[in-house]
This record gives sequence, C-alpha cells and structure tokens, in this order.
Amino acid sequence: MAAVTYELIKTCKQSGARLGKIHTPHGTIDTPIFMPVGTLATVKTLSPEELNDMAAQIILSNTYHLWLRPGEDIIAEAGGLHSFMNWDKPILTDSGGYQVFSLSKLRDIKEEGVHFRNHISGEKLFLSPEKAMNIQNALGPDIMMAFDECPPYPAERDYMKASVERTTRWAERCLEAHQRPIDQALFGIVQGGEYEDLRKQSANDLISLDFPGYAVGGLSVGEPKNVMNEVLDFTTPLLPENKPRYLMGVGSADSLIDGAIRGIDMFDCVLPTRIARNGTCMTSRGRLVVRNAKYTRDFRPLDDHCDCYTCKNYSRAYIRHLVKCNETFGFRLTSYHNLYFLLKLMKQVREAIEDDRLLDFKEEFFEQYGFYSQ
Ligand code: GUN
Ligand code: ZN
Repeated sequence: MAAVTYELIKTCKQSGARLGKIHTPHGTIDTPIFMPVGTLATVKTLSPEELNDMAAQIILSNTYHLWLRPGEDIIAEAGGLHSFMNWDKPILTDSGGYQVFSLSKLRDIKEEGVHFRNHISGEKLFLSPEKAMNIQNALGPDIMMAFDECPPYPAERDYMKASVERTTRWAERCLEAHQRPIDQALFGIVQGGEYEDLRKQSANDLISLDFPGYAVGGLSVGEPKNVMNEVLDFTTPLLPENKPRYLMGVGSADSLIDGAIRGIDMFDCVLPTRIARNGTCMTSRGRLVVRNAKYTRDFRPLDDHCDCYTCKNYSRAYIRHLVKCNETFGFRLTSYHNLYFLLKLMKQVREAIEDDRLLDFKEEFFEQYGFYSQ
C-alpha cells in the first residue's frame, strides 16, 4: 500500500473538475483543497487549534527554511515535524528547490545540485536531490516534493528544455535517495514553462517514473493569468487520473476556482497570510484594505457573508486600529479570516462539483467579487 492514495469520487459534469479524497498516514483530505503555508513550522500568527477550528486539513512547510533553522536533526529528535509543531493532520513539505531560486541571489546550478548562499547569514550552502530527500525523510511529512528547478518567466526555450531534462534526472535521483516510501509519498514536479511540448516531455518522463502524485510547478512566477490557465489546459490532461494533482504557489480566489475547473486537486500559497499581515483581507466582494481611512468608523465585519471567528466578533474599525498600531492581534484576526475565507471557498467548490454546477458557482462568485466597492 502506498503512503498516499487518491480516490476520485466524481467529476463535475459541467466543468470537468474533480471531487476526491487523498488518504495519508495522518488522515484523509477532501479535494480540491487549499493548504495554508507554515514555512517555519508555524502558520504565521496562528495556533494549530485555530487551524483546526477553521477546518484546515493539511498544511505545507518548507525544507529549505527548516534545514537552516532549527535544523532537521532537531526536528527528527523531537519525533518529526508533526510532533515538533503539535499538528497531527497531514503535512506536505516543499523540497527547497523553489526557495533556493526565489530567496538566494547568488546561486550556481550544476548537475550535482545547487550551490548558493544562506539568505540570512551569507554562508555557502549546497542543496541536491539527495540532500533534499534526506532532510524531508528526517522531517517526516506525509507528502514530500522532488528537488526541481523552477525557472523564471519568461525563460528561453533552450534553457527551459535543458532545465526540464535536468529536473527529470534530479527526480530519478530523488526516488533513488528516498528512504521512507512506506509512510512518505514523494511527488514529482512537472516543469516546462509555457512550452506545450516541454510540459508534455516533462509529464511523460515523470509519469514513467511512477510517482504517487504530481505537481504542476513553474507557474505563478509572473506570467499573465491566461498563460497559467492555458498551461493547465494542456498539462493536467497529461497527468494520471488516479493520482493527486497539485498546483504549486497559487492562492488567489479566482486562480483556485480556475485551477479546480482544470482538474487540480491541491493548492498552496503564502498569499492569504502574507497580505493579512499588511492588512489586506479577502472577502466575497474582493480585496478589502482594512488600513484604509474609510474604515475608521466602519463597525461592520470584514465580510458580512463570513461567519469566521474574526467576523463574528470584531469590526473593520477595530481591526484597522490594531493593524495600524502594529498590534499582533490585528494580524492574527486578518490571517484567521483570510485562511477561513479560502478554506470555505474550497468547500463551496467541492459542493458545486458534487452538484455538477462549478461553472455556475464561478459566475455567481464573480458577480460579487470585485464588482462592488466596499
Ligand atoms: N512553489 C511554487 N512553484 C514551485 C515550483 O515550481 N517548484 C517547487 N519546488 N516549489 C514551488
Ligand atoms: Zn471572516
């Protein structure tokens, strides 16, 4: 029995979106799902109890950050990431590939791996497929990611082809180095930018390696929205029906709906928690920048359609005051609300798939979203 299995419950007759379940050693996840990001073994400002209250089902953490601080050996000594951070539901860790590329300016990509500098201390570091597997085996998440290169957008075709081929060779080395296939699933990451033939090559080569799940990487790196949708249009149909499909780094409300329509099962992004910490809230009527002066005497909740802890108890005026004074509680309230909003959106997406009406749901959602000014 594989560590992680995917159960397809049904396909939406109207949109083609998938309703499913992912079974993991730490429980079952309903898909499509959004995964809150807990980079440093904490979803910033929130406790695991609060994540449970908002019905988070799986969180994501980062190999790269935990390797640097506190070090995977310490987390292994604590009994693994679940016990270290007191989160007993599923965890997925990203491999560090993307973080090396996004956080470190000085890097040197070689066949053996990537040489770069610590983004905090400047110290010289080296990350490879073997090292990324080693760290993730020590951390013990339910799902770990292959070590890949996420090229920038746009990238020249020749560069992309060489990069895709190297990412496939790295994926083989990841499979080889992975020590815990019984209780940790290793997902492959399809790259290839906006090039259809390279996405096809990447998908086919990775599929022949038989990973228990596949991610679509290299998106949400600055390309226009229609490019992401087109890439998904030709990439998800290449992926096996009986395995989970994960769109990496995507977390805006519209992209989640558009991704689900294109057959994606899992999403993650720092967006909801990052914008929350500068006072931007996701609402059914679009984004609300609560720092704005017009909310000074606005005693309504952030979103009248939201029944989260924040919206049941606190006003825009109060949250604005806290955020403007840099009070931690303000960031907790906005972070809670934003994650609740996306988790509820995914629940509504699942219900719409169940009822074969995801395209109708999308239309209804957008009638509200962005059409009204707050
Ligand atoms: N997060 C967002 N995009 C990517 C990607 O292409 N690769 C990895 N490893 N993580 C990501
Ligand atoms: Zn709310």
